[in-house]
Amino acid sequence: MNNEIQFSERMEGVRPSAIRDLLKLGDDPGLISFGGGYPDPSLFPIQELNQIYSSLLVPERSDVLQYTSSNGLPGLRAKVAHRLTRDGMSCTENDILIIQGAQQGLDISAKLVVNRGDTIVTENPTFLGALIAFAPTQPNYAPVRTDEFGMDTDQLAEVLATNPNVVMIYTIPEFQNPTGVTMNLERRKHLIELANKYNVLVVEDSAYRELRYVGEQLPTIKSLDTEGRVIHLGSFSKILAPSMRLGWALANPEILDKLSLLKLASDTQNSTLNMNATLEYLRRHDIDEHIAKIRPNYLRKLNLMLSTMRETFPDEVSFTEPEGGLFTWLTCPVGFDATNFMKETLLPQGKVAYVPGATFFPVVQEPNHARVNFSGVEDDRIVEGISRLGKLLKQTL
Ligand SMILES: Cc1ncc(COP(=O)(O)O)c(C=O)c1O
Repeated sequence: MNNEIQFSERMEGVRPSAIRDLLKLGDDPGLISFGGGYPDPSLFPIQELNQIYSSLLVPERSDVLQYTSSNGLPGLRAKVAHRLTRDGMSCTENDILIIQGAQQGLDISAKLVVNRGDTIVTENPTFLGALIAFAPTQPNYAPVRTDEFGMDTDQLAEVLATNPNVVMIYTIPEFQNPTGVTMNLERRKHLIELANKYNVLVVEDSAYRELRYVGEQLPTIKSLDTEGRVIHLGSFSKILAPSMRLGWALANPEILDKLSLLKLASDTQNSTLNMNATLEYLRRHDIDEHIAKIRPNYLRKLNLMLSTMRETFPDEVSFTEPEGGLFTWLTCPVGFDATNFMKETLLPQGKVAYVPGATFFPVVQEPNHARVNFSGVEDDRIVEGISRLGKLLKQTL
């Protein structure tokens, strides 16, 4: 009997990422790792959730252990709709699909429109998790230059004019992962204009939107969408807890129905228990107050990191100054290889890690960047780790 399994063609694009092995090194407790992308666990509302889960796990609430609607608890959808309406995206619970984090939104959005060989536009660089989610649909990529004001929509116009196979524009307008940059209003308007002109679906990934520490909130691309072509994704991961695996998609009814079928096919529904716990959290507590407690903590860490970079980095290394989110992005001179530097110098001599930037580029990998996380590291270790990084960069460059 031949027991060699013939994998499907779609598995060709599904490969472990090159950074997996590198990040394993980050498990060493002596290491100062800026490689994560996790929220600060000391900010999780543990006491509140403890009480809520205890109050739900009683015989009268056996419904919390039962199957429920695939679209998500109506009460939770209504709460999300209320928040989104307040944020300029007028909607009701019927316009919301509860998903397993924004990540599932990426998976089902790609399944919705991408045929093998179709083109997805992304920022350059973009979120690695999105590339992982899109891979089984076997897309091509048209990465668009991204600067401190987000995706360069003049280049996007050129891409759309010359590439009829574009079926989706994927963007992270706020505090982008990995660069930390935010798309300005002019480009948001230009992007939706272009999507309308070329009849392309837009996936707006707002996973970090509530984590703004400085500056004014900008309108979402969804709020500028007059033709119902934007899927807006959001998440409780960074404002409550990522293990709840709760996010949302807002889209027009036709799109939402189809996304809902794709979700049903993939996992039936989100955890009834976690949805109820989150709904109870939103009923009993003011999540905006909770978010208001998170923000100054992250702002302090961000400022600490940026000021240490200013003090200790060589002039040839630049870094973004994000207004929110979890990351800053380093750019070293062309010719510098951030992966080799980490393996050969930074880890052995400095006991410091980041995520080498090459992996975030969908097509042509630029080796001279790194993503640096500030939310998950204690204050004194931020100063110590960034100083060590600065010293070793100076020595090497
Ligand atoms: C840009 C972006 N989108 C989506 C996600 C997925 O988040 P979740 O599935 O936990 O909501 C992340 C996670 O870090 C992210 O950085």
